[in-house]
Amino acid sequence: MGVETSLRERMHAVAARFPQCLSALIPLLYLVQEQDGYLTPEGTQLVAEVLGTTPAYVDSVASFYTMLHRQPVGNYVLQVCRTLPCALAGADELIAYLEKKLGIKAGETTEDHLFTLQTVECLAACHVAPLLMVNEVPKVRLDQAKLDTIIDGCKHGTAPDPDQIH
Ligand code: FES
Repeated sequence: MGVETSLRERMHAVAARFPQCLSALIPLLYLVQEQDGYLTPEGTQLVAEVLGTTPAYVDSVASFYTMLHRQPVGNYVLQVCRTLPCALAGADELIAYLEKKLGIKAGETTEDHLFTLQTVECLAACHVAPLLMVNEVPKVRLDQAKLDTIIDGCKHGTAPDPDQIH
């Protein structure tokens, strides 16, 4: 309860910075995700209350953004771009490699809750294809060896450094 009160207060503080409080929707959803790991029904309800809208509206907006998780996810969310430029650069093969290596299909989470594998649309860095995001860290110009290094690092608790995108 204390935690929820604290989250509510933080939400009101963020919403107050916007001329129109509905504009704070995405930042408030990030607060929920930061605290709960994903957009819990309770968190979605709280956002709706603070902004004076409905949970259905909040969820409809959240559903548009792949960086907002509407279901529980693992500690590391691997989002592989599979739009055409990345597909031409081998994204489908890398997705298949990850599925085999992790023992899950795209859209699933490993039993130990360490990894969630997702496919997403263009991440706006086509010139360094193929790429993925590890949580919010971009890893670019991927190949199987690089994926092995990334996965091993995650397993050992080493957060990956972002690659330079240029
Ligand atoms: S197509 Fe993959 S980043 Fe644009």
